[in-house]
Amino acid sequence: MASKFQAPRGTFDVLPGPGRARARLEAVAAQLFARAGYEPIQTPAFEDTDLFERGVGKSTDIVQKEMFTFEDKGERSLTLRPEGTAPICRAYLEHGMHKMAQPVKLSYGGPFFRHERPQAGRYRQFHQLGVEAIGSDSPLADAEVIVLLSDLLGELGVPGVQLKLGSLGSLEARREYLEELRGYLRKNKRKLSKEVRERIDLNPLRAFDADDEGTREVMAGAPLLVDRLGDEDAEHFAEVRALLDAAGVGYTIDGSLVRGIDYYTRTIFTFDCDVLGAQSEIGGGGRYDGLIEQLGGPATPAVGWACGVERILLALDEEVEGPGRDAFVAIAAEGQRQRAVALTRELRRAGLSAEVDLAGRGLKGQLKHADRLGARQVLILEEDGSAQLRDMQSGEQRPADPGNLVDELTGGES
Ligand code: HAM
Repeated sequence: MASKFQAPRGTFDVLPGPGRARARLEAVAAQLFARAGYEPIQTPAFEDTDLFERGVGKSTDIVQKEMFTFEDKGERSLTLRPEGTAPICRAYLEHGMHKMAQPVKLSYGGPFFRHERPQAGRYRQFHQLGVEAIGSDSPLADAEVIVLLSDLLGELGVPGVQLKLGSLGSLEARREYLEELRGYLRKNKRKLSKEVRERIDLNPLRAFDADDEGTREVMAGAPLLVDRLGDEDAEHFAEVRALLDAAGVGYTIDGSLVRGIDYYTRTIFTFDCDVLGAQSEIGGGGRYDGLIEQLGGPATPAVGWACGVERILLALDEEVEGPGRDAFVAIAAEGQRQRAVALTRELRRAGLSAEVDLAGRGLKGQLKHADRLGARQVLILEEDGSAQLRDMQSGEQRPADPGNLVDELTGGES
């Protein structure tokens, strides 16, 4: 029955079965966020293009190649959000959240859009869940958000998770290091891939991410930023590690860790999952102490992360069983239809999950359908106004008190 229309390339439909696993994930995350005091925030699906150019950074793949950018009828350039941190910082400033008690702890989830080459775990519309703690420069905030993602993946039961930790230092310290790195890359220019060579000036750190052999060889001997941290940055990093140690969260230090977004300062981290293929990064984030200033606000330190919902679901590869139904109301005679509809409503109001046949099936067909839905009890409304209650597990059937049908089904607890 396929029509000529299909979901656009790199997008997908979430169907009811897989939708249950997704709903479970979102419910676990929402509870965890609430327990840790991260309040939900929602921002629009699109923003001014300029916000991402400034926030994410002009030299990034996201801004250079992956944004879905369009003009509205007023000739304003808008972009479907490729990530959530810059929009949340925009909202923080727009709504004067710097006047609230700091840090402001926010959680979010929803669709994001990047024009990437689609493959397993990489889509053009995907979903993230994330948190941001804005307004604290304490390593306690870094540790809190990292522990939170570790706990989320743990509670969900994601297998084979590894946390990698790095530090990019403060912006000033990085400037000096980047000059050193550029010098090193220029010295080894011949061995580098064309793409890396072209980005020596704009974004030399991305050379650590390259997967061609020549560049990799060069990068194996490259100077590392973690070895060049200033005293304060090194102290901050040491404190984050000590806090994670105390919390019992395992990690490895990766001196060549880089991220695909420009706003990071100091701590960066990724959670990789070894049961996923090429797209193994299940979540990641870090500090972005310069972003809010970059967007025109006061200097405001912040830290956060986002994880990929589809990647987590791929790693879990689980089926969540349907919930079944508490009750199914079967109509044994046409004259009982109105009573059936009213009763179903009453049952639902009493907190039960209840369905009534909507397809005009005969009684036998209704019982079969009730079984298919996983109904635990079926209430059969007979022509003469009497009713039968059938236990679907035992197959036992008994007369029910027609004046007290809701109580019959709830055991009188409604
Ligand atoms: P990101 O690393 O670009 O960070 O994305 C976060 C997560 O989104 C990734 O770890 C990955 O699981 C998932 N993801 C990214 N692109 C795709 C895609 N095309 N298809 C499927 N999943 C994808 C950020 O977006 C930052 N805003 C995170 C952050 C928050 N940093 C500080 N606060």
